[in-house]
Amino acid sequence: MNISTIPLPSPSSLWATVRSVGTFNVACSFAALWAFVKLSRAFRWRLKTTQLRGPPRTSFIYGVSHDLASSQDSAEMYERWATEYGVAYMIPGVLGQTRIVLSDPRAIAHFYARETWTYVLTPLALVLMEASMGRGLLWSQGEDHRRQRKALTPAFSNAAIRKLTSVFYDSAYKAKGAWDTAIESSKDVDAVIEVQNWMSHISLDTIGIAGFSHDFGSLDGKRASVTKVFDTFGNNQQASTVNKVLRLLASPFPIITKMPTKRSNLMKKLSETMEEISNDLLVRSRREKDVNMSGRDEEKSIIGLLIKSEGQDAELRMSKEEVVAQMKTLLIAGYETISISLTWALIELSRHPDVQTRLREELLAFGADPTYDQLKASLPYLDAVVHEILRIHPPVGEFIRLVSMHVYMRIDIHNRSTGSGR
Ligand code: HEM
Repeated sequence: MNISTIPLPSPSSLWATVRSVGTFNVACSFAALWAFVKLSRAFRWRLKTTQLRGPPRTSFIYGVSHDLASSQDSAEMYERWATEYGVAYMIPGVLGQTRIVLSDPRAIAHFYARETWTYVLTPLALVLMEASMGRGLLWSQGEDHRRQRKALTPAFSNAAIRKLTSVFYDSAYKAKGAWDTAIESSKDVDAVIEVQNWMSHISLDTIGIAGFSHDFGSLDGKRASVTKVFDTFGNNQQASTVNKVLRLLASPFPIITKMPTKRSNLMKKLSETMEEISNDLLVRSRREKDVNMSGRDEEKSIIGLLIKSEGQDAELRMSKEEVVAQMKTLLIAGYETISISLTWALIELSRHPDVQTRLREELLAFGADPTYDQLKASLPYLDAVVHEILRIHPPVGEFIRLVSMHVYMRIDIHNRSTGSGR
């Protein structure tokens, strides 16, 4: 049949039909149709896929999401379930959502090989990433992600990182110098050092210099605006009951994140401040690049590559918005992950003096400052310590992807098959 011969009802006759049937009946029919589609998909999915075991829902509305959100250590819950149900299991989420949790290294490797093409970000993650960092690497998917990633890859090569070794040592020595002074000036009383603050300073200054050729100066006592906004964000993690409920419901209804809550206002502030800082860094770097005409090494640095990508016509071109989004992404993604991991490393080393001694002995065998290649290949105990810290205190505890049929895939980066456990 030729589709153009079907007479289409006019909007007024359609509205008259709706009125005669009744708005309520029409709404009910749509709801029934929606429920039918959902149920038949769920049924088809149940028939087609292996059924996984998992914990029962503890709340009709939230599944087990409320328990996870209010737990002091959700990783411990995931581990307990993995012990009981195996390395791949299913958990009930908010309003009937289902999540598959993976904690098997091979399954995670498979996931990462196909990431952003097969496993896409959830609608909630997309909204949150865009609000905080813009349309950069952590937001983009598929072809866009491939292009952005390719433009930045040279900055993360072995050769590029090797050149940055002195930047990492400089930060460590600055902190050591300040701690020595604090200990010497405390005379007989114990010196109190706020380790987490210092690790945040190390993290920020190192990313600033290594990534953007800019010294934020926090190790020299400067309180950069970026530190202020991160601190405010970090100190406001305690959510009221209403906010907790809103956060849980944001998973099926991401629009909730647009509501003006204290947290969303803080997120907006974080994004605006990061944008200002990134814009400033970009303007300054463009100016310096014009002055420094040699600029060959600069082009392998993150900021150098970003500036270069702005001017490209070819496939790797990034818009100004994308460049700023990458800068925000790198600052936000790098800052807390590093500062949290370093802090936990020091806590665990002070809890385990035997490990500390063995690590010190291994490091001293290579003199005061091992080279990048020695750090990478000749220090197996250091490697093991770093892996174990990341395993028991992952700064990114979980990340969620959506696969076809609206099944959530939740992957805990906790690697249970390595190391001896907590
Ligand atoms: C202990 C330190 C770190 C940990 C545990 C960590 C963890 C992660 C994880 C799990 C992802 C994947 C997220 C996802 O799939 O949604 C990721 C992505 C990313 N991280 Fe990190 N990260 C760390 C340090 C850093 C640093 C220092 C930077 C930058 C200076 C950084 C920049 C990024 C970026 C740009 C991405 C997105 C990569 C892409 O999509 O291609 N991270 N990180």
